[in-house]
Order: sequence, then structure tokens, then C-alpha cells
Amino acid sequence: MPSPPPVNRDAVLVSREPLDGPYVLLTFRHAEVARSSRAGQFVMIKAGLSAEPPLRRPFSILSVDPAADTFRLFLKTIGPGTHALAALAPGDLAQCLGPLGRPFTAPPAGYEALLVAGGYGIAPFHLFSEELRRAGGRARVFYGGRSAADLQVREPFARMGVPLVPTTDDGSLGHHGRVTEAVEQYLDTRPGPVALYACGPDPMLHAVARLAARRGLPAQVSLDPWMGCGVGTCLGCVVWMQSASEPRPHYRCACTEGPVFDAREVVWPGEESSRARVEAAAASTEAR
Ligand SMILES: Cc1cc2nc3c(=O)[nH]c(=O)nc-3n(C[C@H](O)[C@H](O)[C@H](O)COP(=O)(O)OP(=O)(O)OC[C@H]3O[C@@H](n4cnc5c(N)ncnc54)[C@H](O)[C@@H]3O)c2cc1C
Ligand code: FES
Repeated sequence: MPSPPPVNRDAVLVSREPLDGPYVLLTFRHAEVARSSRAGQFVMIKAGLSAEPPLRRPFSILSVDPAADTFRLFLKTIGPGTHALAALAPGDLAQCLGPLGRPFTAPPAGYEALLVAGGYGIAPFHLFSEELRRAGGRARVFYGGRSAADLQVREPFARMGVPLVPTTDDGSLGHHGRVTEAVEQYLDTRPGPVALYACGPDPMLHAVARLAARRGLPAQVSLDPWMGCGVGTCLGCVVWMQSASEPRPHYRCACTEGPVFDAREVVWPGEESSRARVEAAAASTEAR
């Protein structure tokens, strides 16, 4: 079923819950986002009604409450856009367009979904776990961060009964090391059929894609490029992709054709696709 079109409206901030460090949970009222969002979709939003800062910022939809017409975001404050949003008080307005983008696709029946998150990349997996649970599916979360302070969204998974494996670079919580190491350890226990889903920093997504390719597992990744408009007009978000049926790589808009993509189709920075290498070699042979 095609997604309903995104709706632009002034969204009132209903609640603001500061967390440790640079993190905050923000709940906005926006009926269409609350009622029709799917996991992996996002909103383009900016604080206030003024023209400054000029561009909205993209954020994954953490959770929705259709009965209250509200949705929730999990923000890491890093620059002007996120600081302005985090400084809103209940009752303040934000300009919000959504829901946008392509959601995650659930795995086939009988598969366990392994949800691999880095930092604020945990956001889409709250909604995805709910969707999977409603459909009778199984999920397991691997949640990595630099330290325990970066793993702020754990309680909703405990409430849903979804197992969560925390990992930290400094060993302050859970597995001491990379999140992909914990995924590998779990795969070595020989679970049944699994599908990988990943959201987080590019190096982590790339590592998950390599792991999936090595083990022959299906994987979807939610990419995190810079986005200016969210609707396919500015071309600020283009990513280099190549599907199995395409003879050579080409650009796709992550905002309209993603942000969720099949990991096998992403041409990762610094890694030419093997198909492109074959093409280039063939072209240079022909030219001689
Ligand atoms: C589909 C999507 C979903 C996202 N979901 C979330 C979310 O749930 N929670 C959350 O906290 N953030 C999320 N982000 C990232 C968020 O959009 C950026 O952190 C935000 O735009 C930064 O805006 P700013 O004005 O505060 O900082 P800016 O001044 O715009 O940026 C500050 C610094 O961060 C870098 N930066 C900006 N945007 C990104 C980005 N997308 N990826 C990596 N580095 C970036 C800039 O290059 C700069 O160095 C998401 C991004 C995308 C594309
Ligand atoms: S963000 Fe403008 S085209 Fe994708």
C-alpha cells in the first residue's frame, strides 16, 4: 500500500524530557505523522515559525501515539537546529513536514530481526519493534555507543519484552567493544534465520553491510546523509547506489528513495562496487 502523502503543519510541543548529556525526548502534536508513520520514516522539522535557521532538519520518528495525535523524537543536540528544537518549551510551535521517506520492510515470517543501532540510530527501532511485535515477529536489539551515557533509550524495549544487548567502546555498560562484535557473537550461537537492520554512523552501517555479505544475510540500512528539503528537490542527500539489475552505479535521493536501502545496493565511500570495477575494466579494454 503506498504511503499517504506527507503533511506540512505547525506542530505544538506537548512535552520535553531532558535526558543525560546532549539528549532529549520531544513529543509533538501532528495528526498525520502520529497516524500514518511507519518505522524508518522521518520528519523534517525546525523550531519556531521564523525563517532562521533557514533549513529544517531530519529526525527519525521514535514512537507515535495515534490516540493523542502525537509523535516523539529522540534528539542529540549538536548544532543550531538541534539546539533550537531542544530549547522549545511545551506549547511552543515547530514547523514539521512528515512522514517522509521509505520505511523498513519486515523480514519474512519465521525470521528474527536483529536491530543494530549506534547512538541516536536507536530511534527508528522503537517503532519497528512495535510493528514487528504486532505482526507476531521477533526482534533483538544491539545498541552501541561510546559509553553508557550514549545508550539512553533502553526502557521501551524492556517494556516490550524485546531483548537488548548494550555495547560500549569504553566498557562502561554491556559488551566492551564494537556493536558488530556483539552481533557476530550472537550469530555464532547459530540462531534460526535472521535479517539485519542497521541505523547509526556510516562506519557502523558499512561494518554491518560487510558482516551481512560475509554471512549471506539480508540487511537493510538507514542512511544518514545531510538533507536540505526532504522531498527530492535540493539533491543534497544523494547517495551512490547500484542494484543487481543496474549495469552501473548512479545517484539516488536518500530522502525519497531511502533513507532505508538494501545494504547490498549501497556503494560505500572508498569502496567501488565490484560490478563498477568490472565495467570500468571492460570499458578500458574496449578503448585500447
Ligand atoms: C533520515 C535521518 C534521520 C535522523 N534521525 C535523527 C534522530 O532520530 N535523532 C538525532 O539526534 N539526529 C538524527 N539525525 C541527524 C540530524 O538530522 C542532525 O544531527 C541534525 O540535522 C543536525 O542539525 P544541527 O543544526 O543541530 O547541526 P548542524 O550545524 O547542521 O551540524 C552540526 C555538525 O553535525 C554534522 N551533521 C549534520 N547533519 C548530519 C547528519 N545527518 N549526519 C552526520 N553528521 C551530520 C555537520 O556536518 C556538522 O559538523 C537524522 C538524520 C537523517 C538524515
Ligand atoms: S534532502 Fe533535498 S533532495 Fe533529498
